[in-house]
Amino acid sequence: MLPAMAAKLRIAIVGPGRLGTALAMKLRSAGYTISEIVSRNNIASKRKAAILARKVRALVSTIDTARANADVVWFCVPDREIKNAAQQLGSAIDWKRKIAFHSSGALLSDELNILRRQGAAVGSIHPMMTFVTGSIPSLNGVPFAMEGDTAAIRAARRIVRDLDGGAFTIRRQHKIAYHAWGSFASPLLVATLVTAEQVARDAGLSAVAARKKMLPIVRQTIANYEMLGAAGAFSGPIVRGDAEIVRKHLQVLKKVPEAREVYLALARAAMRYLPAQNRKKLKKALDE
Ligand SMILES: NC(=O)c1ccc[n+]([C@@H]2O[C@H](COP(=O)([O-])OP(=O)(O)OC[C@H]3O[C@@H](n4cnc5c(N)ncnc54)[C@H](OP(=O)(O)O)[C@@H]3O)[C@@H](O)[C@H]2O)c1
Repeated sequence: MLPAMAAKLRIAIVGPGRLGTALAMKLRSAGYTISEIVSRNNIASKRKAAILARKVRALVSTIDTARANADVVWFCVPDREIKNAAQQLGSAIDWKRKIAFHSSGALLSDELNILRRQGAAVGSIHPMMTFVTGSIPSLNGVPFAMEGDTAAIRAARRIVRDLDGGAFTIRRQHKIAYHAWGSFASPLLVATLVTAEQVARDAGLSAVAARKKMLPIVRQTIANYEMLGAAGAFSGPIVRGDAEIVRKHLQVLKKVPEAREVYLALARAAMRYLPAQNRKKLKKALDE
């Protein structure tokens, strides 16, 4: 039996990084007790843990001294470290009646098998949101993809509801594709924007000026996408069928070869998935 679900669960956070920090703050605001912030055993990591622990009124410990006196232990470490951190905590704690989560969007709850074997209910709980240093996003309406043991999923549903997020289950075989999808929604979107900054240099603008001048159109594009969907939000030479302009873009982009590759890949995706006039000539311009 897992702890009575009437009272809010006590949660220990392992890894006071980007996600761990935001999650600890949000959980605390939602009325959860953060029992402990667990870091690696070095000065810089311990300092980060101490700063966060002060904010959420938690104890601090390191992975080799952690007590995990909590109902839930939430691993917020890099994907490659989840198994290792679970192993390090594995032997030190009685895992019976405990829940362990990790938040990798790509990996399964099986990363925590070592704890499952010791009696913990384990799950992977991934918020489809971006967490970066210095910004704590709202979790209102944020989807959390969940997979794992029944008791872990039950607890996760309740926590996600308290965070104002939306919980949904993801099939094990879909996780990698799910995460690849999410990569387009934030990291690769930023990669597109930084590529645009490089192209702007060729138009005589610094990266800072480009960012400032791009923001109105970027914001409006996202607003149009939200309101009208992809086809309705799509403007520019491809939808108009201005093949000669596309050819000229590709000519000038020879000076920024990485940007040219990105342009070609995205233009080909646009031709496949979005409305375009003059397709034959456009295709020829892209294939030259
Ligand atoms: N950031 C996002 O937007 C986001 C979104 C959804 C899900 N996630 C998931 O959240 C998890 C964490 O990602 P993140 O972006 O928050 O990473 P991060 O900023 O690099 O933070 C990772 C934290 O884990 C600590 N750590 C590393 N190895 C450890 C170990 N063996 N024991 C204890 N602590 C350890 C790091 O400490 P040091 O400072 O000492 O390195 C750091 O505090 C990943 O599974 C990721 O897939 C992230």
